[in-house]
Amino acid sequence: MTHVIDAILERSSEPRLTSPAPGRAVLDKVFECAARAPDHALLRPWRYLVIEGDGLVSLGELFASAADDPDQPLSASRDKLLRMPQRAPMLIVGISCYRPHPKVPQAEQSQSAAIGLGYILLALQSAGFGGMWRTGPVARHPVIRTGLGVGDDETIIGFLYVGTVDSAKPPVPRPSVDEFVSRWPG
Ligand SMILES: Cc1cc2nc3c(=O)[nH]c(=O)nc-3n(C[C@H](O)[C@H](O)[C@H](O)COP(=O)(O)O)c2cc1C
Repeated sequence: MTHVIDAILERSSEPRLTSPAPGRAVLDKVFECAARAPDHALLRPWRYLVIEGDGLVSLGELFASAADDPDQPLSASRDKLLRMPQRAPMLIVGISCYRPHPKVPQAEQSQSAAIGLGYILLALQSAGFGGMWRTGPVARHPVIRTGLGVGDDETIIGFLYVGTVDSAKPPVPRPSVDEFVSRWPG
């Protein structure tokens, strides 16, 4: 098999992450991989935020500020939200950016952004780091969206928690190919 196939078959999300986070050179390569996502009409409908150090503290404060939001309170406690970004030394926020286009619906543009985020996970693992894609209510909350500068035509598609794998999680069972692939017409 090729290196690419091996890398994909070895990929797994890792929730237990510690320092160090990837440095600038690795990150640049990883984002170059994201920019290889298939992209109908080359709209580049994505952007990313990198958050680390004090930024993670600020992000925790932003998450916590949504806890008691009168319109849309979050169910997690203030303390939990405050600590949430500290689960890894770096977060990459994946944002899909809708670019109105006569032939490319919004769903296709989100798919392109999601593929890019998937490539980032693969590239990170290939470079010796781990990652975990998370969303939840914090990805959709208006106070958090505004605090991160996410515009009306943009969607947070994921928070990638990134770092060095502290201890690998137990293997996730994978379905066998014939459970989800069939021939048409039969
Ligand atoms: C769009 C998206 C959102 C996700 N959000 C969460 C999340 O909020 N919390 C979580 O524990 N896992 C979340 N996951 C799943 C994990 O990232 C991971 O894929 C899952 O635990 C399976 O592990 P694996 O990637 O090793 O197969 C999400 C995955 C995707 C694609």
